[in-house]
Amino acid sequence: MKGLHVAVVGASGAVGRAMLKVMEEKDFPVAKITLLASKRSAGSVLYYKGEKQVVSELKEESFQGVDLALFSAGSSVSQTFAQSAVDQGAVVIDNSSAFRMNQDVPLIVPEVNPDAVTDHHRLIANPNCSTIQMVVALKPIYDAVGIEQVVVSTYQSVSGAGNKAVEELKEQTQALLDGSSNEPVNFPHPIAFNIIPHIDAFLENGYTKEEMKMVDETKKIFADQDIRVSPTAARVPVMIGHSESIYIKTKAPIEVKEAVKIWDSAPGVAVIDDAKQNQYPLPIEAAGRDEVLIGRIRKDLHEEKALNFWVVADNLRKGAATNAVQIAELIIKKERV
Ligand SMILES: NC(=O)c1ccc[n+]([C@@H]2O[C@H](COP(=O)([O-])OP(=O)(O)OC[C@H]3O[C@@H](n4cnc5c(N)ncnc54)[C@H](OP(=O)(O)O)[C@@H]3O)[C@@H](O)[C@H]2O)c1
Repeated sequence: MKGLHVAVVGASGAVGRAMLKVMEEKDFPVAKITLLASKRSAGSVLYYKGEKQVVSELKEESFQGVDLALFSAGSSVSQTFAQSAVDQGAVVIDNSSAFRMNQDVPLIVPEVNPDAVTDHHRLIANPNCSTIQMVVALKPIYDAVGIEQVVVSTYQSVSGAGNKAVEELKEQTQALLDGSSNEPVNFPHPIAFNIIPHIDAFLENGYTKEEMKMVDETKKIFADQDIRVSPTAARVPVMIGHSESIYIKTKAPIEVKEAVKIWDSAPGVAVIDDAKQNQYPLPIEAAGRDEVLIGRIRKDLHEEKALNFWVVADNLRKGAATNAVQIAELIIKKERV
């Protein structure tokens, strides 16, 4: 297979670095790699497969000869530069929320709606990290017995807010242990030794944008306007790995054993559920892995057609980089690049 000229926009960021790692591990067919970021990181050095790569400043003309552009530099950067990348001949996979709900932009999780890739016009959106891990866990059950409603509470790590947020948690934790204080910058309140039930901006309906992404993106990915998602998103002082407590109301009854069997043979998930051995998914164990981990699987105490479970995944990998690279692999398979 011919190697591709791949551009990583936001290469110096938390997701950008994970992109490089995931492509290396998967031996993604890269013939040439172009690393792009803002002026701040231009000239800095990153490594791809042991070779030095100098980061360049992102400009309109950065995409000449680029086959595939992986964007993870925020919505405004995508809004400004994604179209010029497309115009210069690249296929863009965008990690920001800029285009996710555009009708002509597929929103893809390869374990859930891989066929949506055939409809792309050189621009594909990667869903929100919390949505990705949730829909990967829901899909096999959705196919088996149908799902009417999802009630989800998230416990999201600080790396979900980027490199600076990770530094803030480290510095704030140290400052508090040292008896001093450290003002919040990337979060509305101190995150060290705290939980903040507020991610992204509040909307008129009382939900946050992060929560509404889970509602709207799930409908689009499942192509099901009737699936009801009731979310609460919270930030917790964890470095990497988002956790989610999920309650589903199914269309037909389902027993725990049956659900485990279904998940055991589903792509992209691993069941870790052994209460006697204190085994259940943990963010420190999900970090660095690509699977969505599922555990604490219980029948609801009151409803015949309902389950409770706990889902954890690495937000930088399956929640962002791995999913984007898997989408690129789908495109290659369909020979569209
Ligand atoms: N973190 C996650 O778990 C996650 C999951 C899914 C999606 N995403 C999305 O991925 C994107 C990046 O997130 P992140 O967590 O990697 O953030 P991050 O660690 O803050 O990194 C941001 C990256 O974007 C670059 N950048 C910022 N402004 C730029 C500009 N004007 N021109 C060019 N490059 C610019 C930064 O370059 P400099 O080094 O030069 O500043 C850096 O490489 C966001 O859209 C986020 O919503 C993140």
